[in-house]
Amino acid sequence: MKIRLILLALLAVGTVGSAGALLYAWESAIPPIDPKSLGAPDRAAVRRGANLALLGDCATCHTAPGARPYAGGLAMPTPFGTIYSTNITPDPETGIGRWSERAFIRALRSGVDREGRHLYPAFPYDHFTRVSDEDAKALYAFFMSIEPVRSSAPANELPFPLNIRLTLAGWKLLFLRQGPFVVDPSKDEIWNKGKYLVDGLGHCGACHSPRNLLGAEKTSAGFAGGDAEGWRAYALGRSSPSPILWEEGALADYLARGFHPLHGTAQGPMANVVENLSRVDPADVRAMAHYLASLGKREGRNGAEPEALGPGRLPQSAGIQAATPPVPSVPGGTIYATVCASCHESDRSLPLGGARLDLSTAITDDTPANLVNLVIKGIPARGGASTRPIMPGFGDVLDDRQISDLASYLRNRFAGKPQWAGLNKAVAEARGGR
Ligand code: HEC
Ligand code: HEC
Ligand code: HEC
Repeated sequence: MKIRLILLALLAVGTVGSAGALLYAWESAIPPIDPKSLGAPDRAAVRRGANLALLGDCATCHTAPGARPYAGGLAMPTPFGTIYSTNITPDPETGIGRWSERAFIRALRSGVDREGRHLYPAFPYDHFTRVSDEDAKALYAFFMSIEPVRSSAPANELPFPLNIRLTLAGWKLLFLRQGPFVVDPSKDEIWNKGKYLVDGLGHCGACHSPRNLLGAEKTSAGFAGGDAEGWRAYALGRSSPSPILWEEGALADYLARGFHPLHGTAQGPMANVVENLSRVDPADVRAMAHYLASLGKREGRNGAEPEALGPGRLPQSAGIQAATPPVPSVPGGTIYATVCASCHESDRSLPLGGARLDLSTAITDDTPANLVNLVIKGIPARGGASTRPIMPGFGDVLDDRQISDLASYLRNRFAGKPQWAGLNKAVAEARGGR
């Protein structure tokens, strides 16, 4: 969510508010329904809708910390002010209980609410516009079947003119490409299903694609990497910075479990995505993995074949660790040997055994953001299986200088790439921001 850029776009576009634009911007209200008129829910549609809601991360954005699911009110902070997600439970007064199916589908596809007001693109309708009729109807059936919660989101705190929703029409005119998913007949059915989910409900590009100055995704650049809440959403596919080529099986594993031994763990905003995907129909995750793996197969891609790791292929295998060079006597090297090596160069298994750092995208990527976030915050224990990774945060133990030294050392030793520009700034930002 590059809300800052999105808001900048609004500011720019807001200045084009001529009479013609006003006409274009007009959307009519869709009459309210009587919730009782809906009748008994279609159980099969509700089940399908529940799966689709997980694929679309609806709960992640529409649930405030500690509050009831889907009741909205999650604050999305921006430098200009705060946008709050809305209540999408079927409460007739504060939620979408009086929304018809048509109103719901218009919101998903066109970013317009029942009363005809334009919605901020923090709601990823630029992706949801690809959702099929059948899936949109199943989502509606699911949301109308959940328990209504009475709760109003706080009003957005945005300064003029960003608070004028009409200005969003200009942004949409420039950047919203509405229309259903188009099947590529030269590709197989699973590939098409995977692309449909990745581009549509999965809205993977919302984080993994770069954006232009007006906050819209540069779709032609593919998944060339983007920023998400202070984290780097790495490039996927051909320009992936991963030291090891992402194979289909590894992608499916990582997306469903949040971890793969050759690629490490999903953290930051990706942790919520994989948490949701761990509960969807496994065939959906396999289809997404099938499609994504095909993007890395083109010529000129990065990443070694997994076979290059040798027969063991496992991160903690003793044979590989024996080749570890001695620790150079630079400050970062000493810190690494004292604090990190015990977990990252040992036969420990999860939850405490870390992957080999020469396999970590956090160290080979062009930006140090994720490495720095990981060192400062660690990996919090999440509920559930005891095989989920845990790493302590070192934000209280290491000062900014030590974190920079450590990061430089890791970059040099494990990636063998030029030092990051702006490392000190990244450390300061990671400390300050959250
Ligand atoms: C990345 C965050 C995010 C995700 C993911 C997300 N939403 Fe939203 N959604 C929002 C925000 C923010 C708004 C409010 C936008 C505004 O006020 O203009 C919103 C608004 C809406 C609205 C309009 C409600 C109203 O009262 O105006 C509907 C309907 C909706 N979302 C449904 C969904 C569904 C269904 C999903 C999952 C398929 C979903 N959203 C996923 C952030 C998100
Ligand atoms: C809310 C933002 C967000 C969304 C939406 C999102 N991602 Fe991510 N993704 C990230 C971030 C941030 C990382 C880096 C995580 C880390 O370092 O642990 C990441 C990492 C990944 C990686 C690992 C890449 C590597 O080389 O290590 C894959 C694969 C991935 N995402 C796939 C997906 C897919 C597929 C989707 C859509 C279903 C998706 N992501 C949606 C933010 C997001
Ligand atoms: C108590 C054990 C432990 C210690 C100490 C530890 N880590 Fe970790 N670390 C882990 C585990 C477990 C993971 C998750 C599995 C994985 O991805 O490697 C992890 C993950 C990571 C990752 C992400 C790898 C990826 O791309 O997914 C990085 C980078 C990292 N650690 C760096 C460090 C650094 C630098 C230090 C020292 C300051 C350190 N760790 C200390 C256990 C530890």
